Amino acid sequence: MLILDRLSKTYANGMRALGDVSLEVATGEIVALIGGSGCGKTTLLRLISGLEAPSSGTVAVDGETIFAPHPAVGIVFQEPRLLPWLTVAQNIGFGLDHLPKNERDARVDEALLRVGLAGYGPRWPRELSGGQAQRAAIVRALVARPKALLLDEPFSALDALTRASLQDHLLALWDAHRPTLVLVTHDVEEAVALADRAIVLQPKPGRIFAEIAIDLPRPRDRLSHDFAEAKRVVLAELDGSLTPPHPSKTGKAQAAGWW
Ligand SMILES: Nc1ncnc2c1ncn2[C@@H]1O[C@H](COP(=O)(O)OP(=O)(O)OP(=O)(O)O)[C@@H](O)[C@H]1O
Ligand SMILES: [Mg+2]
Repeated sequence: MLILDRLSKTYANGMRALGDVSLEVATGEIVALIGGSGCGKTTLLRLISGLEAPSSGTVAVDGETIFAPHPAVGIVFQEPRLLPWLTVAQNIGFGLDHLPKNERDARVDEALLRVGLAGYGPRWPRELSGGQAQRAAIVRALVARPKALLLDEPFSALDALTRASLQDHLLALWDAHRPTLVLVTHDVEEAVALADRAIVLQPKPGRIFAEIAIDLPRPRDRLSHDFAEAKRVVLAELDGSLTPPHPSKTGKAQAAGWW
């Protein structure tokens, strides 16, 4: 269980990036954080990962408070960030030094197979496409078997087809050990394809505007009526989160420009 208790963050320049965010995410649950640019999504992930200290409030994973980067919490960024001087297999095995070599190799090979990269272990990161590199980065974060994995718009640099296929790969990896996933996305379709719950954030300061349960069975049919309906509900909340509290004649136009 991941528990965020009244988290807030004011940066040194006085920017109040997050107000008062409290959230409980069950073990194995997939939560999508969605909201306009600058509403504090990346800040929230950095606080959860321990990369950034909150101004107030706490983060705890299975009862353990997170003060600094911790092996229980993995993070994947928008760009793959593989180390160019290591092969794909070495990149992925990097955090597994404590394991005997045969077990480390077996874990890396099994994970590569799951994401359609069998045989890519000896390659260099520069030899991979953007989608392949991001798959390798997700594998790297998951082979260490974190309790929670945080993903900050991991597929946003990829084309729509590659994105859909990587979403499926992510689900296949998640299914192996069912870590808790917290995924930041701008993409309503991605939130509905992956998440058990979508959390819509509101800016200035960043706080929770709405929570929407997405109770669709997996594998999800992107063409189904229920999928379209779930998208509509999330999009409506997203629009609401961007409309000023005192609607003016320009309110609609602002709502449409959320990205
Ligand atoms: N290191 C920092 N110092 C000062 N202000 C910051 C810092 N990092 C972020 N901010 C500000 O805090 C607010 C939230 O930023 P954050 O990056 O968390 O937003 P975001 O929701 O991830 O946006 P995007 O969707 O564009 O990635 C923004 O107003 C941003 O300018
Ligand atoms: Mg961000």
